[in-house]
Amino acid sequence: MIFTIAIDGPAAAGKGTIARALAAEFGFAHLDSGLLYRAVAAKGGDPIVAAQSLTEADLTRPDLRTLAAGQAASRVATIPEVRAALVAFQRRFARQPGGAVVDGRDIGTAICPEAEVKLYVTASPQVRAHRRWLELGGDEAQVLADVVERDKRDMGRATAPLKAAADALVLDTSAMSVADALDAATRAVRVRLG
Ligand code: C5P
Repeated sequence: MIFTIAIDGPAAAGKGTIARALAAEFGFAHLDSGLLYRAVAAKGGDPIVAAQSLTEADLTRPDLRTLAAGQAASRVATIPEVRAALVAFQRRFARQPGGAVVDGRDIGTAICPEAEVKLYVTASPQVRAHRRWLELGGDEAQVLADVVERDKRDMGRATAPLKAAADALVLDTSAMSVADALDAATRAVRVRLG
């Protein structure tokens, strides 16, 4: 069975939590596509060469989850050749037999527009910054500034900007519990699975 769940949305909206839970619930493979951009930036050197030569080992670096790595990722993600180098891997993953959940910024719009289920998970910048701050600590005002800057870059870039696909189910998790968001997402998948 080929079945793709595409989950897009801004940083710290809860995409990862929903993606992992859906993958476990339905027995699908899961790809956090943000990790690819984080790993490209972390490799250093020419980002286009880094994207073209990315390996599994690059994705296991311990320093990929920091705020700085996220900012660096969103800078290399504006380069069309970097994005192009990562398309085939993501598409193959999304369409693998057995089902896949892929989360990112452009999965339902650019990588896999034919995805059977598309979710756009969002929340207010304040709520997202608070969640990220609970995870990473530091100065909350700085975390908010970081979130706002990254949103602006991700939504404003020319190639595959962050936006909801026209046929995506939008989940605003600002005032929603994780359980309610998961429930809505799970229902959407069950309806499509039939
Ligand atoms: O999701 P995460 O915060 O790990 O993503 C890091 C950065 O990678 C994002 O801010 C975005 O610029 C970029 N990205 C992207 N397309 C994706 C996934 C991530 O441009 N599908």
